[in-house]
Amino acid sequence: VRSPPRHFVRAASSDAATAAAKKLIIKHVTIIGGGLMGAGIAQVAAASGHAVVLVDQSNEILKKSTKGIEESLKRVTKKKFADKPEAGAEFIEKTLKNLTTSTDAASVVHSTDLVIEAIVENMEVKNELFKTLDKFAPEHTIFASNTSSLQITKMANSTTRQDRFGGLHFFNPVPMMKLVEVIRTPMTSQKTFESLVDFSKAVGKSPVSCKDTPGFIVNRLLVPYMMEAVRLFERGDASKEDIDVAMKLGAGYPMGPFELLDYVGLDTSKYIIDGWHSLEPNNPLFAPSPLLNKLVEEKKLGKKTGEGFYKYK
Ligand code: NAI
Repeated sequence: VRSPPRHFVRAASSDAATAAAKKLIIKHVTIIGGGLMGAGIAQVAAASGHAVVLVDQSNEILKKSTKGIEESLKRVTKKKFADKPEAGAEFIEKTLKNLTTSTDAASVVHSTDLVIEAIVENMEVKNELFKTLDKFAPEHTIFASNTSSLQITKMANSTTRQDRFGGLHFFNPVPMMKLVEVIRTPMTSQKTFESLVDFSKAVGKSPVSCKDTPGFIVNRLLVPYMMEAVRLFERGDASKEDIDVAMKLGAGYPMGPFELLDYVGLDTSKYIIDGWHSLEPNNPLFAPSPLLNKLVEEKKLGKKTGEGFYKYK
């Protein structure tokens, strides 16, 4: 076998070197929204050595987020450093040192590499935020949304950095769930995509990639499955208890579909399915369910309100 001509080898390796040099290594992250998801993302990013600023609307909310992070870190540390309490204490201290908070996003993005948005699931509110931050963030900064059900492309179009825009879809609870879906729109550059993949790995997650399509991978399969379970129950074909037992023992799922719906929140599930239904009204997988709508109307939203398909008392 003849070796490739020398000039080819040199060209190929220098191309690879340029590509690597171009890739943005994310060191400083701004997370907007210190709720369930934003706090979790801030925690894993700070724990893996990134400088993190967590932003929310008030200091009160941020105090609650920080307290939640501290408690979660203690739980993680108890397991991770079971026989080394000193190393555990040092890990918590280091992580918290990497984390600061702010109520003014525009004033903290001036030198950030990545903005992750995890605010309320509302396109207008998200677009308003991105449009503002686009003016204050430096040119190299990548913007990402943690949205579960909205189109990333529409958000990218509210900025002038469509090539530096993608989705980073984490799962709840963030410190426990290993997956991140990295979403590329038709405008996301290869460099941006690779930087987002590398960042996901750097925070200890396993990234998968998906185009900007409703539900990405996980929810596109999971939500219609849960809706199909509701329809099976609505038709009176089986009880919700039996459907849950069946999927746990027959398919090996850790939770049945009704337990999962109650955990996710029936309002959230309804919001997702209604959004998809309006995008594709003829798709039977996205058809709304009268029973789900009724429970939401009655404010039976699942675990968080004490009642959904099941009662929690
Ligand atoms: P959440 O309601 O717990 O937290 C949202 C936070 O954003 C609140 O603390 C709120 O004060 C803050 N906020 C709202 N508007 C803001 C603004 N303009 N500037 C700064 N802060 C603002 O919501 P959660 O569950 O954390 O969801 C956030 C995002 O993550 C949503 O887009 C949701 O679709 C997505 N997501 C949620 C998952 C879940 O299981 N809850 C899973 C994956 C993604």
